[in-house]
Amino acid sequence: MKIDGVAYRSVWLDQDQWSVRIFDQTKLPWLVEQIRLTTWQEAAHAIRSMQVRGAPLIGAVAAYGVALAMRQDPATLDPVLEALNETRPTAINLRWALDRQRARLHNLPAGQRAAAAYAEAAHIADDDAETCRRIGENGLPLLQEIAARKGRVNVLTHCNAGWLATVDWGTALAPIYMAHDAGLDVHVWVDETRPRNQGAALTAFELGAHGVKHTVIADNAGGHYMQHGEVDIVIVGTDRVTRTGDVANKIGTYLKALAAHDNGVPFWVALPHSTLDMRVRDGVSEIPIEERSGAEVTEMTGRTADGRIETVRVVAGGSAAANPAFDVTPARLVTGLITERGRCAANEAALLAMYPEKA
Ligand code: MRU
Repeated sequence: MKIDGVAYRSVWLDQDQWSVRIFDQTKLPWLVEQIRLTTWQEAAHAIRSMQVRGAPLIGAVAAYGVALAMRQDPATLDPVLEALNETRPTAINLRWALDRQRARLHNLPAGQRAAAAYAEAAHIADDDAETCRRIGENGLPLLQEIAARKGRVNVLTHCNAGWLATVDWGTALAPIYMAHDAGLDVHVWVDETRPRNQGAALTAFELGAHGVKHTVIADNAGGHYMQHGEVDIVIVGTDRVTRTGDVANKIGTYLKALAAHDNGVPFWVALPHSTLDMRVRDGVSEIPIEERSGAEVTEMTGRTADGRIETVRVVAGGSAAANPAFDVTPARLVTGLITERGRCAANEAALLAMYPEKA
């Protein structure tokens, strides 16, 4: 996707063909700043500190982190895989990418590991970009059908599941980009997504850069707009989908699903194959939910009128703050899943029919 007319992916190899470049997403949208990663420890820090975030991108950067580690010391495969796996607990794409690297590397002699790890990381990145493009194609008919009936489409999305959260295109945003490019009159309600504001900071930035009409709303406004017929469809991304179709995603997704259910608004979840965790059945009890610092709740970061990036406290001193980063939407609230292979219901039979090799 493009920033100021220049096409980028969200992770790529530098000109030297070994170091790894990312955008520092903690600085967006105020500063478009690249970071060059030269060690696996820097890759781990980038994931932990959320310089990169979004389930598929976390997986791709972790895969490149393994490649950097194999260049540093090919004997460190197991501890590096373990350390990278601990950077963020909820998105299963991280473990998926590390498992792929383990399978590719563990039987290789040390001298062959670095080249193989880079090749595998590139494969994971290319696969994610193509997978997301197909998710866009498979979600597009949902928007076309609404546009054919109503003349326009109002989509609500939560958090950021665009190209910044994947390697390219995004998951939830891919059908929106394709609808826009196909000339549909599409408008997006962008949940701000407190506490870290991925909607306000990243989704709005992406949509704006692509010329897609959008309006940023407070997280609590979605139900109101649904009651008033202003939301035709909700599309969100996900960090893990269970065998039974339960969906983990950014905190607040569950409340949007409840409001959508109450108002008869279709609630769709877009996911690549790497987000499916067939080992887990019940999302609420089995998916680990990342608990992040309360400072993300008590503080907010923004740009001052004179261009400085500042963090200010918005809660009086002395109050405790809790910060679960994700929640689980039960499958019964999910209208359907948009995958690279097509659309299906959020249940075990449909997922097994879509991904028989994962049985
Ligand atoms: O904490 P984040 O910003 O990594 O959370 C991201 C999300 O919740 C996304 O919706 C999810 O990873 C899907 S990204 C295609």
